Amino acid sequence: MHNRLVGAAPAKVNLVLEVTELRADGYHEIDTILQTLELADEVTLEFGAQAGIRVGGPFASGTPADASNLAWRAAELLAARCDARLDDLAISLNKRIPPAGGLGGGASDAATVLRLLGQYWGASDDLLREVATIVGSDPVFFVSGGGTARAQGRGEILTPLADIPRQNVVLFVPNSTIDGKTARMFAALDRFPFDAGGVAAAFARGDGGRVSAAEVYNGFERVAFDLFPGLAGIWESVEQRCGEPIHLAGAGPTLFWIGASDSAAAGVAAAASGQKSTVLQTTTRGRG
Ligand code: C5P
Repeated sequence: MHNRLVGAAPAKVNLVLEVTELRADGYHEIDTILQTLELADEVTLEFGAQAGIRVGGPFASGTPADASNLAWRAAELLAARCDARLDDLAISLNKRIPPAGGLGGGASDAATVLRLLGQYWGASDDLLREVATIVGSDPVFFVSGGGTARAQGRGEILTPLADIPRQNVVLFVPNSTIDGKTARMFAALDRFPFDAGGVAAAFARGDGGRVSAAEVYNGFERVAFDLFPGLAGIWESVEQRCGEPIHLAGAGPTLFWIGASDSAAAGVAAAASGQKSTVLQTTTRGRG
């Protein structure tokens, strides 16, 4: 039998990201508000095909096209629990999300593979969440439907929130990143006092209204300039030219602006011209 399943794997930004503690297991305790975006990879599963993972699209470069890809690992873990086989499964990723930029593309691809395979094999939502937690800290958010949500613990304790109204988001993606970025960004924070906490909790208690760039908070911003060469220059120049604050996406190095007005978004996007970064305009995306 030949079967083809297709799903979108949305990007995310963190509207709030607090890192409050180094835990005994080496992970950090976080309290974060995540938000999915319309910008998405396209994930295609084909059964009855030559097994393996293929990567294409505008941001294919930098994404592993072998068994080390989180999407393949997720498929292996779920197959083992469902007593299913992967020997005729082809996974194709059309990468529209820049990789290793703090936008959650790899985690989202893995979560979409889990959701599609879960439908095909009849796996429960609980099993999908259990496997997503093993794959990493962000896949649980995506496998649970994204939208606006609070994540605590190492990122796996999820509380869905009411979707915020649709807003414009402009992404500034620097042309280079660094190896082992997420682990290095967390480790760099250990030299400073941790966040006191309370910002994500206040957001979760809020009215679910619009979010302005000035309300966004990311604790990684205190170490990002040290770790990503050239980032400070892009950041200062874009903020100066557009007169609006921009923020780090997750553990970076992508920067983003969020706001309601279409014309402001166009102005912010234009402010980055000539910088060593790729500019992408998108919007927030609700749960689904
Ligand atoms: O969970 P994930 O595999 O994406 O994390 C990559 C690395 O980032 C971990 O190995 C760990 O060093 C660090 N990390 C952390 N605290 C978290 C999440 C990740 O220290 N809450």
